[in-house]
Amino acid sequence: MQCQCDVPIDGAREGAVTMDLNNRPGFAIQGGVNHSFRIGVLGSGKGSNFVAIADAVAAGKIPAEIALVVSDVADAGILAFARARNFPAQFLPPGKFRTKLEAEAERAYIAALQDAQVDLIVLAGFMRILKGDFLRAFAGRIVNIHPALLPAFPGLHSWQQALDYGTKVAGCTVHFVDGGVDSGPIIGQSAVPVRNDDTPETLHQRIQVAEHELYPQCVAALARKEISVVGRRVIWQKSI
Ligand code: GRF
Repeated sequence: MQCQCDVPIDGAREGAVTMDLNNRPGFAIQGGVNHSFRIGVLGSGKGSNFVAIADAVAAGKIPAEIALVVSDVADAGILAFARARNFPAQFLPPGKFRTKLEAEAERAYIAALQDAQVDLIVLAGFMRILKGDFLRAFAGRIVNIHPALLPAFPGLHSWQQALDYGTKVAGCTVHFVDGGVDSGPIIGQSAVPVRNDDTPETLHQRIQVAEHELYPQCVAALARKEISVVGRRVIWQKSI
């Protein structure tokens, strides 16, 4: 499925990553900023990708600030990390559904991220599918990391899917989020060889090591406005 988010961002701040699908080329990053680039992070789990990004921000490798961390899981590790580092962090209840946000919850997520004036939303292990209103509110400004070389093995437990299929190479993908499942334009990928003795756990561990390198690099390029999008192709002005 292609992007559902076919509305240009309403009132997007200068320097935000914007998308205009009425007038392809679609996703595009506007230049000229005089405010810091603000990142909102959504996660449901242990938060190792968030830590990698926060470390890269702290080291000056990503010219941005972490404006807000939100989780749909009250005791998620990602919230503990965020609080330990004094980032604004919030548990927002997701509502009654298992795989998506209930309408009222979706409104609360949108409001929290808009109040935090985020330029980019980084999904770091957020286990819910984002839909219509959320995608429209932040069109072209949401990215995700997936533990497979997309378009192979979208969905859950991708490392297990790769092992079951018998691929020799697995990996991870950073992509823009659109209305489909793991289907938006690909920003970056990193390959991880599959070993004969790999178990799902060992393969996932090595994929995560690759994720922790790839995701900060992609977020840095977005924050520096070094990325543009033409159709489905994401063009880097500088190579990684
Ligand atoms: C990562 O493997 C990522 O690819 C997937 O969810 C996992 C999140 O891990 N989307 P963590 O919470 O960042 O450690």
